[in-house]
Amino acid sequence: MSNLIVFSTFGGFSQKLAEMLAEKLPGETILINVKKNPSLTGYDNVILGGAVRAGEIRQGMKNYALKHLEELKNRRIALFVSCLNEDQDMIQQYFKKSFPAELVENAVAMESLGGALNLEETKFPMKIIFKIMKAKNSEKILTDNIDKIAGFFQI
Ligand SMILES: Cc1cc2nc3c(=O)[nH]c(=O)nc-3n(C[C@H](O)[C@H](O)[C@H](O)COP(=O)(O)O)c2cc1C
Repeated sequence: MSNLIVFSTFGGFSQKLAEMLAEKLPGETILINVKKNPSLTGYDNVILGGAVRAGEIRQGMKNYALKHLEELKNRRIALFVSCLNEDQDMIQQYFKKSFPAELVENAVAMESLGGALNLEETKFPMKIIFKIMKAKNSEKILTDNIDKIAGFFQI
């Protein structure tokens, strides 16, 4: 059983979450940044996900999914987001905005795996906005949701 995780990240936290998920999946798992436009050939299971910025996963994730849609439809798919929001309705909106509707419908699992905010690494103008909001550095890993996704890929 071979698994591919395609992730997008700005600050690296989504990659960390993807690595934690990879450790729980059966068989061999390869992790590749979406910017590298990885081929899906040879993978039975594909997990797509990444950091939410202003309401959706960016860095070409939707275009990647659209470009590979036919191949993705023939595989077992799960989706994840890394975000700070804990509102389930908002999280569902992130999935709908970030992926083609057919993938959202076909995915065996869709979960937020948590999020992190590092104010030192945040750039202008968001740095100022977060300061006004009195936001604090934070890090949350939703291990139950990592387990939930991994559970769908057990043989
Ligand atoms: C500019 C900016 C915009 C963000 N927008 C959202 C958002 O719309 N919803 C949300 O839940 N989290 C939002 N976040 C939080 C990120 O999704 C969170 O920090 C994520 O874990 C970052 O992952 P990364 O380190 O892989 O980039 C935002 C963070 C930044 C810095």
